[in-house]
Amino acid sequence: MSDPHRTNSSIGLVSHVDKHVNKTINNMGNQLRIGLLFGGRSGEHEVSIRSAAAAARALQAGSNRDRYSLLPFYLQKDGRWQGPAIAQGVLDSAQPLPSGDRPENPAQLWQFPPEAAEVDVWFPTLHGPNGEDGSIQGLLQLMQVPCVGSGVLGSAAGMDKIAMKMVFAQAGLPQVNYRLVTRSQVWFNPCIFPKLCDELEVAIGYPCFVKPANLGSSVGIAKVRSRSELEAALDSAASFDRRIIVEAAAGGKPREVECAVLGNDDPQASVIGEITFESDFYDYETKYGEGAADLVIPATLPPAVVDRLQSMAKAAFLALDCAGLARVDFFYVESTGEIFINEINTLPGFTATSMYPRLWESTGVPFPELVDRLVKLAIDRQATGQGAV
Ligand SMILES: Nc1ncnc2c1ncn2[C@@H]1O[C@H](COP(=O)(O)OP(=O)(O)OP(=O)(O)O)[C@@H](O)[C@H]1O
Ligand SMILES: [Mg+2]
Repeated sequence: MSDPHRTNSSIGLVSHVDKHVNKTINNMGNQLRIGLLFGGRSGEHEVSIRSAAAAARALQAGSNRDRYSLLPFYLQKDGRWQGPAIAQGVLDSAQPLPSGDRPENPAQLWQFPPEAAEVDVWFPTLHGPNGEDGSIQGLLQLMQVPCVGSGVLGSAAGMDKIAMKMVFAQAGLPQVNYRLVTRSQVWFNPCIFPKLCDELEVAIGYPCFVKPANLGSSVGIAKVRSRSELEAALDSAASFDRRIIVEAAAGGKPREVECAVLGNDDPQASVIGEITFESDFYDYETKYGEGAADLVIPATLPPAVVDRLQSMAKAAFLALDCAGLARVDFFYVESTGEIFINEINTLPGFTATSMYPRLWESTGVPFPELVDRLVKLAIDRQATGQGAV
């Protein structure tokens, strides 16, 4: 970044960020060693590798190359940590390493590669369970090293769709009607299961969505229109998660619009993006199928709707105590003008073609500047206190 003051004002970040950052950088020497952490025990393992490759390129682009050196760390699907030599190979090949269900030596789950001690700032690009849910954030917090993104609370509350909706409700954010169902209600109480379905039919009705509370990528999500579909969807969701959410469909086929947030205590909102697709809803095949969905950036929306979306995105970010980055997703029902918040993603897709970096690009923050800001925000968050000290 050649002119930090211009950049700060362009996205409105306060100057004390730079003060802390410069002090930290001076204390650490000329180059910060960025621990890029990717892979993970999640269904989004492959996307995480692509996110990390894009982040690595951005962290080595232009003047970032002078400021940052990279130490990649790869978490295999079985939870084993791999240090920079192997991790770099995974980044270069874009292929996950084969792994078993559990590592042969369980100590590999908590014995980090020795290079982990050299990291100045952690930069996780882990998506989904065991990466975006506060578990890795707690581990990194114990290391007392700054970490890009939300801490334990924001990550955990943002991952669990029920906890998230409860916080959103408290913050007065509009959302569709929903109910919590537990696996034990679905599987272990055959006597009450029909009554449970009766109650859901009255409280939520059809069509509705049944979702595991803690997955992502639309895995295990079903749109249901009848009693038999509801029963099957609850059974299927229970196989993925202990906690299940049943929620009303947002009017007809709502427009799906998203806003990127960047910052800590005074976050900024990007332009709005829209996902368009032909299928019934944004399911797994549509998300990852070649050409099945398009991103429209910026979305064509009335300015007043853009304003509402941006202020709701910032309110959601603050309500969950998020930090650094998040993408907030909404349903916009054009016929009624209603907006419903759907969810927040605290480590959103970060590949070169992902919504989050593209929204910032369109807002005037190119990818290399984005990663630079995120590293500085992580240092600032650590310097000003992640939580109780
Ligand atoms: N209440 C709803 N009304 C209309 N469509 C919905 C509703 N809930 C979910 N959908 C559809 O299902 C898709 C996936 O749902 P959702 O975003 O809640 O889960 P997810 O994408 O798996 O989570 P993540 O974004 O964390 O990966 C949405 O993008 C949307 O197309
Ligand atoms: Mg989603």
